[in-house]
Amino acid sequence: MLKDMRISIILGTNRKDNKSKIFADYYIKLLTKEGVDNSIFSMDELTKVLDWNKMYDYENSPVNELTEKYIKPADAFVFVIPEYNGSFPGIVKLMIDSIHPEHFKGKFASVIGIASGRAGNLRGIEHLNGVLQHLGIHTLPNVLPISQIFNLIDENDSLIDKSTQFLIEKDADALIKLVENNR
Ligand SMILES: Cc1cc2nc3c(=O)[nH]c(=O)nc-3n(C[C@H](O)[C@H](O)[C@H](O)COP(=O)(O)O)c2cc1C
Repeated sequence: MLKDMRISIILGTNRKDNKSKIFADYYIKLLTKEGVDNSIFSMDELTKVLDWNKMYDYENSPVNELTEKYIKPADAFVFVIPEYNGSFPGIVKLMIDSIHPEHFKGKFASVIGIASGRAGNLRGIEHLNGVLQHLGIHTLPNVLPISQIFNLIDENDSLIDKSTQFLIEKDADALIKLVENNR
């Protein structure tokens, strides 16, 4: 890859047929165009391997295979988080708690809120930002709340709204620059 940089998109839900994936996929397309190595870590992968009884046994947890694949090699993360009951989905906190915090520390992140309602998950973005700050993850100062998403996509689940496309492009540019400037 051109930029010797890896970004993992955290798709913050395990809901079947979720719409957040449309926005994660759009982000991935941009990263690929920019020559940034990338992958999507969807929370349904977590539910397939998570063993409740080994969740905090970081040495032996089956989640390690996901840590190796998506967390350790990443320079930065893009958290795409739908709004569930006024916050980010619990499955995202479960993922964070099931991985040793040392694998997050000092890395970079952007947080994108996705909501069918009007708030764009701004509160969930704030809640998650608090957790990320605690982990020592540096986040972009500009967050991206995306609201009323059913006005932004078409019947084939494509993102068709130009201003949202533009904002996601700006977010990707800013995240790439943040990583580049802090190597
Ligand atoms: C458990 C649950 C709670 C939700 N709570 C909210 C909410 O508080 N505010 C809101 O605007 N949308 C809420 N929604 C609707 C989501 O914004 C909507 O499903 C949207 O498509 C993003 O979620 P998705 O990626 O799962 O599709 C909720 C959806 C679910 C499944």
